[in-house]
Amino acid sequence: MRFGVLTGGGDCPGLNGVIRAVVRKGIKEYGYEFVGFRDGWKGPLEGLTMTLDLPATRGILPKGGTILGSSRTNPFKIDGGVEKIQENLKKLGIDALIAIGGEDTLGVATKLDALGVKVIGVPKTIDNDLNNTDYTFGFDTSVNIAMEAIDRLHTTAESHHRALVVEVMGRHAGWIALHAGIAGGAACVLIPEVKFSTDKVAAWVNSRFADGFAPIIVIAEGAIPQDGDMKIKDQTLDAFGHVKLSGIGDWLAQEIEAKTGKETRTVVLGHIQRGGTPTAFDRVLSTRFGLAAITAAHNGDWGKMVALHGTKIETVPLESATGELKLVDPSLYAEAQVFFG
Ligand code: F6P
Repeated sequence: MRFGVLTGGGDCPGLNGVIRAVVRKGIKEYGYEFVGFRDGWKGPLEGLTMTLDLPATRGILPKGGTILGSSRTNPFKIDGGVEKIQENLKKLGIDALIAIGGEDTLGVATKLDALGVKVIGVPKTIDNDLNNTDYTFGFDTSVNIAMEAIDRLHTTAESHHRALVVEVMGRHAGWIALHAGIAGGAACVLIPEVKFSTDKVAAWVNSRFADGFAPIIVIAEGAIPQDGDMKIKDQTLDAFGHVKLSGIGDWLAQEIEAKTGKETRTVVLGHIQRGGTPTAFDRVLSTRFGLAAITAAHNGDWGKMVALHGTKIETVPLESATGELKLVDPSLYAEAQVFFG
């Protein structure tokens, strides 16, 4: 069999680990052939390919990003897009696809599966918000990056007796904020799932200062104040209808200064959270996902996504992962609140 492999959406540490495992096991155990599609769904849409053999996948496990490139191309938003993909797959002699992506990329895979394209999905996102998998790779790396940033910010904030707001990624789900905030000992964590009160934040800030410490406030980019709206940086929509977020951190810093009289600065971690080498956890998870994906393909388990359940890798229907997002459970958030203030 001949497979096309693609990575779509925001890049994330561990993508190369999946590609390496799919190709290594596919060639060595099953004798399959692979074609790399460049830049997400743009690859099969425009016939953009690259060699994907054993030499091409040597030495890539510790590398961040994706050797295939990525994009947020949505073939369903392009006239004749799906037909072009089907034609190109035929022209290139490709029997099936391994699509590595988040809700948008796998949403396209779900629709293509319904149209008869043979596809296996692999869940990827630093946001950890894909349903029906306990974790996605990339999440652990970004939490560790954010935690390290918080550790560093503690020392400088304390030297200057200031509050520091750390804005992390997380459009609809606050997983990165919650885990990094707990791991970094934040004075409070603000997530998109639970609207926050600026009065409460000010009280937590004051109480941390009263104990002789400088507060670090961790906020997800999609967090919403009780008496305000989500802060949007840029109204332009991408092909999947998303606006660009960012700005809530700066807004909150001004509110904190106004309410507490304490100097407050903001750090936006942005794409630093997505770049660089994956943690050991993400290298192992992405490797296991890749091995399971090519095995699922070998078994003809089309229309499925590989998923982590406990310590086991299982396959689940693609639509069960992309139908709705996995948000932070309010009870988990409540658990963390004993450390606020
Ligand atoms: O999808 C993952 C994500 O990291 C979101 O948390 C964030 O809003 C988005 O990507 C930003 O991605 P980009 O800057 O590539 O549009």
